[in-house]
Amino acid sequence: MFNNPVDFSKVAVGITAVGSYFPTEVVANDYFSGYLDTSEAWILERTGIRERRRASPEQASSDLAFEAARGALAMRGIVPAELDCIIVATVTPDMLFPATACLLQKRLEAFGAFCFDLNAACSGFLYALHVAVSLIRSGAQHRILLVGVDTMSSILDYQDRSTCVLFGDGAGAVVVEALENPELGVLDTLLRSDGRGGEYLFLPAGGSRKPASPETVQEGEHYIRQFGKQVFRHAYPEMAKVSLEVLERNGLTVAELDLFVPHQANLRIIEACAREMGLPLTKAFVNIDRYGNTTNATIPSCLHEAYREGRLHRGSLVQLTTFGAGFAWGSTLLRWAIE
Ligand code: UT7
Repeated sequence: MFNNPVDFSKVAVGITAVGSYFPTEVVANDYFSGYLDTSEAWILERTGIRERRRASPEQASSDLAFEAARGALAMRGIVPAELDCIIVATVTPDMLFPATACLLQKRLEAFGAFCFDLNAACSGFLYALHVAVSLIRSGAQHRILLVGVDTMSSILDYQDRSTCVLFGDGAGAVVVEALENPELGVLDTLLRSDGRGGEYLFLPAGGSRKPASPETVQEGEHYIRQFGKQVFRHAYPEMAKVSLEVLERNGLTVAELDLFVPHQANLRIIEACAREMGLPLTKAFVNIDRYGNTTNATIPSCLHEAYREGRLHRGSLVQLTTFGAGFAWGSTLLRWAIE
């Protein structure tokens, strides 16, 4: 595509294809009100969630990732052998190692790619997108498959009403490549972390700090723990702040955005963030009502759905913004590159 020598640092890089996959089992709010001290109204009013998907016992994250990846590769019209890197952003790998990206590579038969996982909790997809764009701008890689996937049902305590109602399973995949049109693709990214937030959302056992044992299982420490109010309090102001900062340093305004794609953790967080930014809610893409919080899959699956619905056109100005455990958060501005 380019004549050598090429200064890749100046090359436009963007998303050239997108796919997503959700397991078929639908778990509606009345499932939880059937056995827990909760109600359909509480879940809907406090989170915006009506239903979520749950993987079958045979499905792990690499299986969901495989389906989403296949969709993205088909849209791009390429075969897996044409990939030179696969990144999987996940907090629910099939196992601690090997990397889920390697398991995905095996299923895809994408043996020309090097593969690794990236864990930045809910913000993994945006962090990985930044890595993918940077790898391409370094000139080292040319065509990267990036999948955001989580099988949250595998780390949920279905007796803990404060977490089990919030999350769902799913995957979203994108192909990231250099673009010929310098106006399109990722314009800017701003990522932030604050490890002081780590105590508010975590998975206590199964790592080197607290290896899994009969006791940790007995205590349910292989399940997600969240202090929701503390996360909520930090999430929406930081999402708004980082979003406005990226816009400002690019000389752009909220009014110029065609679509705002926030991480889908809670509809009230999205509303509060939009309010802080002065962004009309109609510009924010929302699918949390049908899928819950799918962690690393929220943003790429929203992109796929928005594209299918005709809300994204070549040149659309799009802002992706996320917040999650770590704390880790950030925002990416891009001009949509797909026709
Ligand atoms: O993606 C990763 C980042 N995660 C997030 O961004 C999540 C951020 N946090 C949240 O979305 C919200 O804080 C939650 C949805 C988790 C909770 O909503 P909240 O309005 O902050 O509720 P709360 O935690 O302050 O709880 C209010 C009450 C409590 O009862 P008391 O102590 O006031 O008697 C909870 O025990 O609601 C209770 N509660 C529930 N009641 C019915 C918590 N979960 C439920 C439930 N059904 N499922």
